[in-house]
Amino acid sequence: MNSLEIREKYIKFFESKGHKQIPSAPVVPENDPSVLFNTAGMQPLVPYLMGQPHPYGSRLCDYQKCMRTNDLDEVGDGTHHTFFEMLGNWSLGDYFKKESVTWSFELLTKEFNIPVERLAVTVFKGNDIVPADDETANVWRSLGIPDSRIRYLGEDDNWWPNMELTGPCGPDTEIFYFRSDDEIPQEYDPEDDRWVEIWNNVFMQYNHNEDGTFTELPKKNVDTGMGLERITSVLEGVNDNYKSSIWKDVIEKIEEITNLSYSENEKAMRIIADHIRSAVFISADPSGIKPSNTDQGYILRRLIRRAIRYAKKLNIDIDSNWEEEVALMIINKYKNFYPELEENRKVVLDVLKDEKNKFNRTLEHGLKEFEKITSKIVDGKMDKDNAFRLYDTFGFPIELTVELAKEMNIEVDEKGFEEKFKAHQEISRAGAKEKFKGGLASTGEIETKYHTATHLLNAALKVIVSPDCHQKGSNITAERMRFDFSCDHKLTDEEKQKVEELVNKWIDEGITVTKEEMPKEDAIKSGAECMFIEKYPDIVTVYKIGDVSAELCGGPHVSNTSELSHIKIKKEEACSAGIRRIKAVFVD
Ligand code: ALA
Repeated sequence: MNSLEIREKYIKFFESKGHKQIPSAPVVPENDPSVLFNTAGMQPLVPYLMGQPHPYGSRLCDYQKCMRTNDLDEVGDGTHHTFFEMLGNWSLGDYFKKESVTWSFELLTKEFNIPVERLAVTVFKGNDIVPADDETANVWRSLGIPDSRIRYLGEDDNWWPNMELTGPCGPDTEIFYFRSDDEIPQEYDPEDDRWVEIWNNVFMQYNHNEDGTFTELPKKNVDTGMGLERITSVLEGVNDNYKSSIWKDVIEKIEEITNLSYSENEKAMRIIADHIRSAVFISADPSGIKPSNTDQGYILRRLIRRAIRYAKKLNIDIDSNWEEEVALMIINKYKNFYPELEENRKVVLDVLKDEKNKFNRTLEHGLKEFEKITSKIVDGKMDKDNAFRLYDTFGFPIELTVELAKEMNIEVDEKGFEEKFKAHQEISRAGAKEKFKGGLASTGEIETKYHTATHLLNAALKVIVSPDCHQKGSNITAERMRFDFSCDHKLTDEEKQKVEELVNKWIDEGITVTKEEMPKEDAIKSGAECMFIEKYPDIVTVYKIGDVSAELCGGPHVSNTSELSHIKIKKEEACSAGIRRIKAVFVD
């Protein structure tokens, strides 16, 4: 059964059980700054798992674009991927354990024709919060899974996502398949990796609060996830995902381009296939992510650059259109399920080509610098500052530095690098770069107005909420402004209203906006607001709005606040620890 049939059967099966198919959410989450990518099908559903009614009802199913990048460097074996698809079905306070388990069993054994002898399951053995999940174990027993194939395990195995993460969570039951021609052991052994996990059913009935406590959710939900790549290789009887129908033609394309065989170049070909697929999906996403040195953009950059490095290893002519050939094959393969791939085909191909060209230039410069640095090393160790310089100034991913250094028996202070890198990321995450450019993706008239409005909002927060409220980032589109600021509490309704009123009062007053260039020191001394002093050049521009606001800023701005419409705060929410986020729009 190939992946197309599996996908279709899954959705049809759950539709026949009263589920509505929902479209895949973007792989870059729209309203969740806590993660870079959707890592599971449930992520876009969090508000509904928390109790909000879903417009499609209480039984949902889908296939969802997911990305997991924490083990990016492990990609290269037969089972790890960065991007993957997750098949899922949900009950939002509708059915619970019995139906969930029964339907999973029915789909696997009747539709996917998996023999019961090849299945084993785990259930939760209990903790301080919930008792052992005998209820689920009993349903499995009633369906014909013998006790020897039912194993009770603890929090590490049967609690999702895990005890540390906050948000909706709960005990789960995992389903395993015996993937081997060996005789199937009577007893399921979690240590035996011939048993591979194919499906996870989470009984999501708790919320793990920020303060560490667990509270019951208003409804008992079910959240299941089945990795399409995994189930496809299982049902197609291959041990290597890249030999399944999902990847076979992509690998053949790479064999054709390189004139080499997969069997002798597995690692490099898997990396190229996986990373180009992920790069295609990220750059076709509506969020419009482009390669950069921060957040999702950095992951995209690393993926493309790592694919190029392995393409070089296979002696691919980097200047040829190899990446385009692979990307087009992926676009064609998935476009019926994800139309954005076809719609953004040009964007995707441009991203790949531009990044390839940038990387080539970088490599040339960086290699020279790398040689300079290593020629001075006498103790076989490269310190964190040099490793960071190669990254920050020359765009060398740390993995590349480590790999090249290894060839020369030089050890890189990776830990030190990580620390520097994290500190750097904090700064950029807070939006310093965007701020320096004026916080604007594009500077049309409406964006300019929103930009001036963020200065007013910044000033109003200081007056109404606390002088300690400082800007930590902003993002403006033609539709709205988003403003992140330091604050130790959730704004009360009264505070929000007063902030709005004050901003609107300043708009009504028609205050003149002026622009002045001055030395950075003077600007700071005068008390002008700025986010990160070190990020600004020596001579800075200060925008003043009467005596209401003075900020170091690249502009542009309107010349009088009367040009703005009144603002309305649509949302105020936590962004990260100690940082709140306001979304506001112009009204009337
Ligand atoms: N959310 C669960 C998982 O990702 C189903 O495993």
